[in-house]
Amino acid sequence: MTDSEAVADLPPPVDLGGPAQPLLTVRGLTKHFPFKGGMLGRTAGVVQAVDDVSFELRKGETLGIVGESGCGKSTTSRLIMSLILPSAGEVLFDGQLVGPGGMALKDYRRQVQMVFQDSYSSLNPRLTIQESIAFAPTVHGLNPLAARGRAQDLLQAVGLNPTQFARRYPHELSGGQRQRVNIARALALRPRLIILDEPVSALDKSVEAQVLNLLSDLKTQFGLTYLFISHDLNVVQYMSDRVLVMYLGRIAEIGPVDQIYDTPAHPYTAALLASRPSMDPDHRREHAPLTGDPPNPVNPPSGCRFRTRCSFAEPVCAQTVPELAPLDRGQAAACLMVNDPRHSRHLEFSPGSGAHPKKHTAPIKQAAQARGAA
Ligand SMILES: Nc1ncnc2c1ncn2[C@@H]1O[C@H](COP(=O)(O)OP(=O)(O)O)[C@@H](O)[C@H]1O
Ligand code: SF4
Ligand SMILES: [Mg+2]
Repeated sequence: MTDSEAVADLPPPVDLGGPAQPLLTVRGLTKHFPFKGGMLGRTAGVVQAVDDVSFELRKGETLGIVGESGCGKSTTSRLIMSLILPSAGEVLFDGQLVGPGGMALKDYRRQVQMVFQDSYSSLNPRLTIQESIAFAPTVHGLNPLAARGRAQDLLQAVGLNPTQFARRYPHELSGGQRQRVNIARALALRPRLIILDEPVSALDKSVEAQVLNLLSDLKTQFGLTYLFISHDLNVVQYMSDRVLVMYLGRIAEIGPVDQIYDTPAHPYTAALLASRPSMDPDHRREHAPLTGDPPNPVNPPSGCRFRTRCSFAEPVCAQTVPELAPLDRGQAAACLMVNDPRHSRHLEFSPGSGAHPKKHTAPIKQAAQARGAA
């Protein structure tokens, strides 16, 4: 690109479908990673990392994705970003199919940015932070002077004084400061959606709170939509309008965050909530109700994938894959027993505790115990 072709500012993002059109639509997204084994190095099996995941992300909302480590959160985000190819399924952005035959990846990646957990490896150690932030706008045609100006404005927006920080290298910053730089870098192309994959998990608690508040402020300031991924239920509750609960590659439950935290409909959500530490001594449990590890995604249980850890499992749970069934007020859960009179419609919790199911004292059995019944 010549200097005469360089632009003075990046064009603002265009809202194609209006407020009612979801910003992101994910349909049947599936990722099976084949792995090799044996003497001949043939394909020995597949890791079913993400399986038939479908959801919508509304313009301006924050959708949290929560679930135990290995449940497929990062794979889902990498699929959405088109960093890896899906085994099946599709992604639509503002109504347009992403990829071949639809929206070009270059246009898509300008509008969708990502922030990862590891603040250090996301930054080029040989570039100053100003150069790192200015890099993508320059590639997209912004003249170098304007790109540097944008980098300095964004440093200011994320709470780093440009005079003090612009010429520093990543190793000259703390973890929290580096994550602020990554957030500034994600904002550099004027995106509409930011996917935040465990953005505060590597930070100290005090820094975590500052970065979460910064993210909330930036969302309002720049009119953003967030997909916020975390294994931390408290952080997801603080940040999200709605929450999607994943278990072993599938959606267990989705809905408004307050409703799901108060009245989870899926036994896994109830168990996760019951497992989280409570600051209230009256609500502390001696034993976390979510016990054992999730099964191996190479060979997940038939039917409902949660059945080996679920104390409500019936024989049918081994035979039928539960679909997400809509409940009221936008909540949906993938549990065959959710409308069964023997199973409470919602697994209620003491208000505010998030730690004590009222009706079920032991919602989860030991995985080993339950495997025999499966
Ligand atoms: N490139 C890969 N090849 C094989 N298996 C993978 C790969 N990436 C992730 N996995 C597996 O997919 C599952 C989901 O991983 P991941 O999406 O990283 O989970 P999470 O982010 O929820 O911790 C895990 O069992 C993980 O080991
Ligand atoms: S009751 Fe059955 S379908 Fe529902 S979560 Fe338990 S095992 Fe799965
Ligand atoms: Mg992850």
